[in-house]
Amino acid sequence: MNALKRIGLCGVVPVVVIEDAKDAVPTAKALYDGGVDVMEITFRTSAAKESIRRVAEEFPDICVGAGTVLTLDQAKAAVEAGAKFIVLPGFNREVVKWCVENDIAVTPGCVTPTEIMEALGLGVEVLKFFPANVYGGLDGMKALSAPFGKVKFIPTGGVSDKNLAEYVAAPFVYAVGGSWLCNKADIAAGNFDTITDLCKKARQTVLGYEV
Ligand code: 3PG
Repeated sequence: MNALKRIGLCGVVPVVVIEDAKDAVPTAKALYDGGVDVMEITFRTSAAKESIRRVAEEFPDICVGAGTVLTLDQAKAAVEAGAKFIVLPGFNREVVKWCVENDIAVTPGCVTPTEIMEALGLGVEVLKFFPANVYGGLDGMKALSAPFGKVKFIPTGGVSDKNLAEYVAAPFVYAVGGSWLCNKADIAAGNFDTITDLCKKARQTVLGYEV
């Protein structure tokens, strides 16, 4: 199954910041134990590439991707390490085009009609909507859905278990992303049970029944 389908089925995309690559696999396991089988490891730390490599090699049940990808070099490094999808906070034509040409799932951040049209022009219809809480949240995406009926969004930024249910209920929402599922402090402290519990709770909200 391709990465985009995995994201859609999972319904949530944990945005993960790993400082030390040794935490990558235990974090992946914690997510997986909570029913979340996708993981976006962000290029915000120097451990990102090695973390992606470890998860791809040692925990293949998780569909691992790279987040906060700002340059083509980062996208190439992530894919070389085993990333199955690429997430950009904004729209970068060079990176998106390279992903499309290389058959790598890519979700660029698009919050304006112009950015959405750029993405559609490259055949990309599932878009990150970031920061969702700043760009109008559900109202913003609903307004954009009128002219862009084909587009589905992955709102990220300011999402938590408090507003997850509203987001996942919207027909134009493909999945929801965020760091609340797996925060840096819990990873560093080895609080993997907390991460698993938060994931279980989120999956329950997505599915509408207990997991
Ligand atoms: C991201 O890069 O997607 C965001 O930093 C996640 O936003 P959040 O921390 O508000 O969930």
